[in-house]
Amino acid sequence: MLSQSHRAIVASTVPLLEQGGEALITHFYNTMLAEHPEVRPYFNAAHQASGDQPRALANSVLMYAKNIDRLEAMGPLASQIVSKHVALQIQPAHYDIVGACLIRAIAEVLGPEIATRDVLDAWTAAYGQLAEILIGAEAARYDEQAQAHGGWRGDREFTVVSKTPESAEITSFVLAPSDGGPVMDFKPGQYIGLHIHVDGEELRRNYSLSASPNGSTYRISVKREPGGVVSNHLHDHVQVGSKLQLNAPSGIFTLEAGDRPISFITGGVGVTPALPLLEQALATGRPVTFIQCARNAQVHAFRDTIEAAAQRHPQLSRYYCYDQDDGAGEARPHGVGYLTREQLEAWLPEAEDGVRDVDVYFLGPKPFMRMMRKHLHEAGVPDGQVHFEFFGPAAALQ
Ligand SMILES: Cc1cc2nc3c(=O)[nH]c(=O)nc-3n(C[C@H](O)[C@H](O)[C@H](O)COP(=O)(O)OP(=O)(O)OC[C@H]3O[C@@H](n4cnc5c(N)ncnc54)[C@H](O)[C@@H]3O)c2cc1C
Ligand code: HEM
Repeated sequence: MLSQSHRAIVASTVPLLEQGGEALITHFYNTMLAEHPEVRPYFNAAHQASGDQPRALANSVLMYAKNIDRLEAMGPLASQIVSKHVALQIQPAHYDIVGACLIRAIAEVLGPEIATRDVLDAWTAAYGQLAEILIGAEAARYDEQAQAHGGWRGDREFTVVSKTPESAEITSFVLAPSDGGPVMDFKPGQYIGLHIHVDGEELRRNYSLSASPNGSTYRISVKREPGGVVSNHLHDHVQVGSKLQLNAPSGIFTLEAGDRPISFITGGVGVTPALPLLEQALATGRPVTFIQCARNAQVHAFRDTIEAAAQRHPQLSRYYCYDQDDGAGEARPHGVGYLTREQLEAWLPEAEDGVRDVDVYFLGPKPFMRMMRKHLHEAGVPDGQVHFEFFGPAAALQ
C-alpha cells in the first residue's frame, strides 16, 4: 500500500530520475538480462543496443513518478505499454523479477547516502502499485482475447498458406490456424506477436496485420532487415506449409471515430498497418489522402493495392514520393527526395485560418517520423489529431 510519505519521497526523486533515469535503467537491464536468462527472449537485442528500450522504460517510470497523485494522467501511455506487453505475453511473475532488479539498481546506482531504506521502501511500494495496475489491465486483455470468437490465450499454431513478394525487400505471408478454427477479428492498425525459434534461440517479434480482418486468416508483410535474425529467417526459410506460433492481436494505433478528412503518411515498411486502416477509412465515406514514401520504385510495395482502392473510391487521393527516382517501372512518383513541408501542405486538405482540420496517421523510420511530426505541426494540424505507431519501443519525436 502506498502511503502519503511514500508518495512524497517518490515525488521528490523526480529531479534525480530526470538527471540519471537512463543510466539507472541501463544498469537495471544489464543486471536483469545477466541474472535472469529466462526473460531474455522477450527483449529485442537491437532495441537494447540502440538504447530505445531502456529509454522507453525510463520515460514511463519518470512520468509515473511525476503523476503519482493522479495516475489517470498516465492513461494513454499505460494502454500503449499494456498492448506491447500483451503482444509479447508478459506474465505477472515477470513483474517480480523486474521489480527486484529495479530496486537493486536504484540502490546500487544512487549509493547508500541517497538510496536510504526509506527511499527504497517508497519505491518498492510505488513499483508495486504500478505493477498491479499493469498486471490487472493485462489480465483483462488476455481474458478478452481468450473469450473473443476465434480468440485464444498464449501461443496458437498457424500454417503459412501463401507467401508473396510485394517488393524487392517486403514479402507477405498469409497465415491460417492449423486447428482449422476461426480467427478473432482485430482492429485495423493492430499487430500480432510472433513467437519463434531461430537456430535454437527463442525470439519474439511483432508484425502489423496488413490485410483487413476476414475471420479465417491473417496477413503479415515483412521487410528483410539487413542483419535481422527473424525477418531473414522468414524470407529465407519459412515457406507455404511452414508452422508459426502467434499471439493474439493487440495495439492502439487504430482509427478514431469522427467526420474529419483522414490522411495516412507512411515511410517504407511502415505502410503495413495503413493498408487495413485505409480500407476502414474508405468505408466511412470520409475523404482520404494516402501519402506513401519509399526509397525507390524497386522497394515500393503495395502500389497496385492503393491504385485499385483509388479506382473503387473517388474520395481517395494518393501521392507517392521516392528518395530517388531510378526510372524503374512505368509509373513515376509525385515527388522525388524526402517529403517536404511544402509537398505536405499541397497534398493534405487545405488549411483554414492556419488550422488544417484533418486526422493524420503516420508511421515509418524514426528520422522520418520526427520530420513528419514537425512538418504536420508547422502545417497547422492540431497535435491531438496526429496519431503514430513505432515499429519498436516508443521514442520522443520532439
Ligand atoms: C508494433 C510493431 C509492428 C511491427 N510491424 C512490422 C511489419 O509490419 N513489418 C515488418 O517488417 N516489421 C514490423 N515490425 C518490426 C519487427 O517486429 C522486427 O523488429 C523486424 O522484423 C526486425 O526484426 P529482425 O529479427 O529481423 O531484426 P533484429 O535481429 O531485431 O535486428 C534489427 C537490426 O538491428 C541490428 N542488430 C541486431 N542486434 C544488434 C545488436 N546487439 N547491436 C547492434 N545492432 C543489432 C541488426 O543488424 C538489424 O539491422 C514491427 C514492430 C512493432 C513493434
Ligand atoms: C512497472 C513495470 C513496467 C513498466 C513501467 C514498463 C514499461 C514499458 C514501456 C514504456 C515499454 C515501451 C512501450 C512501447 O514501445 O510502446 C515497454 C515495452 C516492453 N516491456 Fe515493459 N514495463 C514494465 C514491466 C515489464 C516486465 C515485467 C517485462 C518482462 C520481463 C517487460 C518487458 C517488456 C518488453 C519485452 C517490451 C518491448 C521491448 C521492445 O520493443 O524491445 N516490461 N515496457
